Amino acid sequence: MIRLIGSGGANRAMEVEVKRLSKRAIGGHLPKAHRKDGQNLRYPFDSSLAWLAVRYARTPSRVVWDLFETTASRLEPLYDAIFSHISASKPTWLVDKLRFTVEVNHAHDFPASPLQVRGTVKNAIVDAASHLGLSLSLDPKHPQLVFRVEANADRTLISLDLAGRSLHRRGQRTWTSEASLKETLAAQMLILARWDPRSEALLDPMTGAGTLVLEAVGSAQGRATWPPDEQPVASNFPPFAELTLDRPDLFPGELPPLTAIEVHTPTYRSLERNIKNAELATDIRLLHGDFRDMRSDQLWPGQSPPSRGLVIVNPPYGERLEQGRGYAPELEELYVDLRDWWLELDGEWRLAILGPGRLLKSILGHQAQLDKPMKNGPLSVSLLVYSK
Ligand SMILES: C[S@@+](CC[C@H](N)C(=O)[O-])C[C@H]1O[C@@H](n2cnc3c(N)ncnc32)[C@H](O)[C@@H]1O
Repeated sequence: MIRLIGSGGANRAMEVEVKRLSKRAIGGHLPKAHRKDGQNLRYPFDSSLAWLAVRYARTPSRVVWDLFETTASRLEPLYDAIFSHISASKPTWLVDKLRFTVEVNHAHDFPASPLQVRGTVKNAIVDAASHLGLSLSLDPKHPQLVFRVEANADRTLISLDLAGRSLHRRGQRTWTSEASLKETLAAQMLILARWDPRSEALLDPMTGAGTLVLEAVGSAQGRATWPPDEQPVASNFPPFAELTLDRPDLFPGELPPLTAIEVHTPTYRSLERNIKNAELATDIRLLHGDFRDMRSDQLWPGQSPPSRGLVIVNPPYGERLEQGRGYAPELEELYVDLRDWWLELDGEWRLAILGPGRLLKSILGHQAQLDKPMKNGPLSVSLLVYSK
């Protein structure tokens, strides 16, 4: 099985994204996804699908290949199960002289410490490889093979992490602001808001370091999420080593106007650098200032405003909220101003906003087209989508 792992509730966005990518890149019939829970999406193993997901998908945090499961709940039977499975199946991914590491997750109810589980899995892998006449060495710093172990009291799942690291890093956004969104969450927002880059302009009035606009370009053009000098670890072993590594954009072409506004000067400078670093094949219009001072003639000087678009925004939530102490009055004022500003934009603009759901709904109304609870790091927030 191939499994996409996302943040809580990411399944819907991950499934929509995989459908879109696979339709374009590998055609044919996409097997039905199994939703294991809100954040684990599984497909029957298919190397092209796995390779596509690990290189292009923007919504998952990890893409793993589930190798096998065992009910062994103590260390010795765990060792035996892994040793027997590997030595009997002679897996294709087991290549002589590879450097590997083992990462253990969710070992809370397994009756041994994560460190003990890690040692046992490592020994079983080395011994099974040696039994097959192959030698593997442990190298947590520069691994070519990354095993992921999910050890629970009733079942332990052994997988290969195909990227070898968390996928939220895109290698391009060097400068972050304190309140930056994770790239994977920004990508989920764009999908859940159903942004249509063929017909809708995009406008982020509180851009921060630029995550939403950068993800918008990446997803609209189907850019690989890897910088040219870095490759997923899966490129070290079959069947992925044989698959091509070129990085064409999957959806090349013109994009509608993209506009980003940021008021805080140091953050604006970071935004400028991030956009420059990303070497985009399209322009993003950057505006330094308060969105409240910007009307159509500043937003699109000398040209007629786009007739349709999406305002997408991750506004400040306020320190008090982040500390669990409720809302500051100035936050309410900012959200009211944002609502009025959006309503006054010329044209058919939708609004997608991620923030404190109760407060936002009290200002924007309860008729949201989408009202989805999400997690932004430790904070419980809602993604709300409105039409005028
Ligand atoms: C939560 S952060 C956005 C983070 C962004 N999504 C990212 O991932 O980097 C909110 C941003 O809104 C900016 N901001 C606050 N009030 C603003 C205003 N009136 N006009 C423009 N930007 C504003 C802040 O400076 C801050 O960078």
